[in-house]
Amino acid sequence: MTENGTGLGRLRGKSAVVTGAAKGIGRATAELFAREGARLVVNDVDEAGLEDLRARLVSDGVEVEAVVGDVSVVEDARRIIAAAVESFGRLDVLVANAGVIPLNNVVDATPEDWDHVMAVDGRGMFLTCKFAVEAMLETGGGSIVCLSSISGLAGQKEQSTYGPAKFVASGITKHLAVEWADRGIRVNAVAPGTITTEAVAALPEEYKAPMKEAHPIGRLGEPVEVANAILFLASDEASFITGAILPVDGGYLAQ
Ligand SMILES: NC(=O)c1ccc[n+]([C@@H]2O[C@H](COP(=O)([O-])OP(=O)(O)OC[C@H]3O[C@@H](n4cnc5c(N)ncnc54)[C@H](O)[C@@H]3O)[C@@H](O)[C@H]2O)c1
Repeated sequence: MTENGTGLGRLRGKSAVVTGAAKGIGRATAELFAREGARLVVNDVDEAGLEDLRARLVSDGVEVEAVVGDVSVVEDARRIIAAAVESFGRLDVLVANAGVIPLNNVVDATPEDWDHVMAVDGRGMFLTCKFAVEAMLETGGGSIVCLSSISGLAGQKEQSTYGPAKFVASGITKHLAVEWADRGIRVNAVAPGTITTEAVAALPEEYKAPMKEAHPIGRLGEPVEVANAILFLASDEASFITGAILPVDGGYLAQ
């Protein structure tokens, strides 16, 4: 596994927004983007977690703005994107990462469970992408990376609400890629397998063992391994790639 601390300047001077950045994959991505020279707007509903990240980045000399807000709320999503334009004059990269991950089967799931995950993972991604595209059109283009999942490309048990929400992420990626390719905006996604974020790390080993076995590599992924793939897709190194959904899954989807 690569802990990418090389700082090759792959996002030098670029203005990037990362939603849901207080922890997990979003935090790893914000930290990696900072090492690669990006100017950052970081967002989360978790005010304390976001402030912890902001303070850490500031102490490392990073240009960063923190915007507390809920991606599913129109005015919040608008503010998050506007912060990049106001602070840095433009938006080059959006990582639409904020999400909730409820696990339930269709018998146990309530209509409220469906509405909540569709609001955050679905509507929130739509809103942040919408305002990001508007901003990118002003400056001639940009790059969006959405967080899909193995659950956004294949069926799984206990994912009757979350899985369909991640199919929304896959769908937004493909449709917006085609919609805006001729205006210089690339839209791609990563599809992580199970990643050892705080919630997953806290699960008992009896739950994690079969999860590990389901990934041919034989272990779960680390947040930085997803962040490395997001960095590639966000950067100019992926200049001829749009509409792609890149599995970061230890071979899960190859089976
Ligand atoms: N962890 C995994 O195994 C995994 C696998 C595939 C895909 N993903 C996807 O990666 C993304 C990040 O997941 P994670 O595992 O890092 O989760 P996480 O719970 O560790 O972090 C998610 C962050 O999003 C924030 N958030 C939640 N609702 C929000 C809202 N309405 N507005 C703004 N911020 C909000 C949370 O406060 C949290 O800081 C999600 O879109 C998730 O679906 C995760």
